[in-house]
Amino acid sequence: MSVLVTGGAGYIGSHTCVELLNSGIDVVIVDNFCNCKKSSIDRIKALTNKAFTYYECDIRDYDGMDEIFKKESIDSVIHFAGLKAVGESVYKPLEYFDNNINGTLVLLDVMRNNGCKKIVFSSSATVYGMNNISPLTEDMKVGGVTNPYGRTKLMIEEIMQDLYVSDKEWSICLLRYFNPIGAHKSGTMGEDPNGIPNNLMPYITQVAIGKLDHLGVYGDDYDTHDGTGVRDYIHVVDLALGHVKAVEKVASGTGLNIYNLGTGKGYSVLDVVKAFEKASGVKIKYEILDRRPGDIATCYSDPSKALKELGWKAERDIEEMCEDSWRWQSQNPNGYPD
Ligand code: NAD
Ligand code: WQD
Repeated sequence: MSVLVTGGAGYIGSHTCVELLNSGIDVVIVDNFCNCKKSSIDRIKALTNKAFTYYECDIRDYDGMDEIFKKESIDSVIHFAGLKAVGESVYKPLEYFDNNINGTLVLLDVMRNNGCKKIVFSSSATVYGMNNISPLTEDMKVGGVTNPYGRTKLMIEEIMQDLYVSDKEWSICLLRYFNPIGAHKSGTMGEDPNGIPNNLMPYITQVAIGKLDHLGVYGDDYDTHDGTGVRDYIHVVDLALGHVKAVEKVASGTGLNIYNLGTGKGYSVLDVVKAFEKASGVKIKYEILDRRPGDIATCYSDPSKALKELGWKAERDIEEMCEDSWRWQSQNPNGYPD
């Protein structure tokens, strides 16, 4: 089986390529490198010792993508490519809609015209919006999303649902990720955000390494066990293994299926700080700030559908997530080389 991985040089994509290759699945990576370094490709090669092809191409480039499909024999696609910064999407909505929505439309068109109708898509727990009560299940009403980034995920889910209604030959998995953290056990692959991190774990690791002075905790007056926000953190390798199962699922027939990929457990910001301190032996200085607009108190998954239908379950706990995040950050204080 040969899988085209859009955004395969990014954080989740690179870890997924390693697990695909280790499972004996052939990989073709397409990335325009707008939010990653090319050296992540070398790390995938070094970790797997397997040959694979990569193309520098924007998924919005119809001719470029068409050429890749004509040259390679692609059975299915895992579609990670997209812009993902929630805050940035608020002041650059057109760029987000163009990249994420238009990019997906071009990709789906090229796939259809080349007879490839199997796709796994990176959606997000953000589609559940502000109003559902955790644990979140796939059958809950989606919507009420608070930012353009989240709206792109919701719209793409709807586009793929309409596509499946129009043509039942498609086989589609929409994967709703919760909060991916952690890194490959080797310490050679991990999350490498540009500039000041938006997300909790890379912020914590950069405080630990001394790049940032202290963590700002966004609110301690939520209705949670310690007042700070609760999330479902999932190890990126567990997430990657979920994609191997999902790609096997889309290969096995037709249909449209939606799965939560989370652990089903919620940890507060201060729980994560404590777990990280224990794993790293480094004290994390923090200050309580006001709530961040758009945040909710609690968000965690019910992951039982993925267990029942994909045979997938997250195995790595919060301690391992923290240990692996720290190994990556401490061995690569400046992230990937250029
Ligand atoms: P990432 O930025 O590390 O990876 C995305 C990759 O896509 C990057 O390598 C980037 O260069 C590439 N890319 C972006 N636009 C492109 C385009 N037009 N053409 C070709 N390549 C393009 O992000 P990630 O954390 O690995 O996320 C992967 C996917 O998962 C994204 O779609 C993201 O929205 C989704 N997601 C991420 C999270 C998270 O917290 N990391 C949570 C839920 C969903
Ligand atoms: C986690 C918790 C913050 C940073 C985002 C996207 C979501 C998905 C995953 C893509 C919250 C708190 C954070 C900091 C803090 N991405 N926090 N100080 O907001 O749950 O989800 O990433 O699809 O769509 O919205 O993740 O890591 O930003 O925050 O106190 O400096 O940590 O308030 O409670 P979030 P996060």
